[in-house]
Amino acid sequence: MENPFVCGKVVRGKCFADRKAEIEELTSDIASSQSVILFSPRRYGKTSLILEVLDRVRAQGVLTLYLDLFKVTSQETFITAYAKEIAGLHGGGIRTVLKKVRDLLPRLIPKVVVKGQKADIEFEFDRPADKTPLLDDLFEAVATVSSQQGKRAAVVFDEFQEIAGWDVGGEVERQMRTHFQLHGNVSYIFMGSKRHLMQDIFRNKNRPFYRFGKHFPLGKIPEDEFADFIRKRFEETGFQIDSEAINEILRTTEDHPYYTQLLCHILWDRRREKNVVVKEDIPEAVSEVFLREAHAFCDLWDMLPRKARQLLVALAKEEGPQGQIFSNDFLRKHNLGPASSIQRAVAGLLKEEVLEKVDDKYQYTDIFFKRWLKKTFV
Ligand SMILES: Nc1ncnc2c1ncn2[C@@H]1O[C@H](COP(=O)(O)OP(=O)(O)OP(=O)(O)O)[C@@H](O)[C@H]1O
Ligand SMILES: [Mg+2]
Repeated sequence: MENPFVCGKVVRGKCFADRKAEIEELTSDIASSQSVILFSPRRYGKTSLILEVLDRVRAQGVLTLYLDLFKVTSQETFITAYAKEIAGLHGGGIRTVLKKVRDLLPRLIPKVVVKGQKADIEFEFDRPADKTPLLDDLFEAVATVSSQQGKRAAVVFDEFQEIAGWDVGGEVERQMRTHFQLHGNVSYIFMGSKRHLMQDIFRNKNRPFYRFGKHFPLGKIPEDEFADFIRKRFEETGFQIDSEAINEILRTTEDHPYYTQLLCHILWDRRREKNVVVKEDIPEAVSEVFLREAHAFCDLWDMLPRKARQLLVALAKEEGPQGQIFSNDFLRKHNLGPASSIQRAVAGLLKEEVLEKVDDKYQYTDIFFKRWLKKTFV
């Protein structure tokens, strides 16, 4: 029997713990063509949630387009990737689709690529030099299809903060805003995991997307929903698990979606002969979580400058979030040297999302990284 707990990949259908309230809110945003800026720390379930929402609204007749900007490394790859998704909005045979995309994107050359049994459409550039009219076509296309078909549309840009890496002069961002703000039938959804980069795009008065849409910080999965999910998944696969064990799992992972699935995955594997999970099984499974993640934690650690490491060790020694990390007391207690060098380290750690600042206090974004540091260095 297959392990019912999936970690690291996008989760769909049965593997997805209902985020009922979030699904409802996003579905209603799309129904009213509200644009949304959705962000959360890494591996909270943004992509899984939005793909679930898109499945549902598509079933209600909404046109949907999803583009992951992690895969995009330049303006050219952005244009061809977005054009390909636009081609995907059309049903019908390949010839019909070709005709439709030629009308919508006359400055791009579509070509049919056959992979195995499947024919797919990709794009080449006509005149590589001037891309501005091409961007105009591109950013009008979804709204045009939406009004031609009399349907609402939802367009998702996942990992939108990545745009900063290649849209150096900000041309694409400006063009997007110019077009998107006029589209009454389209909900644009921008997602990202780097809070400071997302905030800079959407909260900085000098950026084109200033105040473009509603901000939607995605939290962890509500504990009662997650507990039901865990129980169901164990029981469906013939396991027994009591509430005490489920509560202990969620207490250990602090309801973090990815770590909860990982811990359950390991527990399921370790107990598959006996088909029973009890609270006492958890500590050893947690050690295995550390073993599996050690590689990623070591890589991150290697990347960090010395001052940042010292500060992280100091924070790992303390219980809970810390407010006074620049105070003389804190600096002296942990032998951290002058406040100015710690300020630089903090700025770097916030930028890399290793730390986050909540209610004026600094804390680790990844509680398992904190625990790993504590085990390894404290
Ligand atoms: N609704 C959910 N139900 C159950 N598990 C979930 C849910 N959402 C996320 N997870 C767990 O978290 C993992 C990461 O989910 P996902 O890739 O959707 O998150 P993300 O926020 O998009 O991550 P990233 O920041 O890496 O892009 C999944 O593989 C799964 O283990
Ligand atoms: Mg994602």
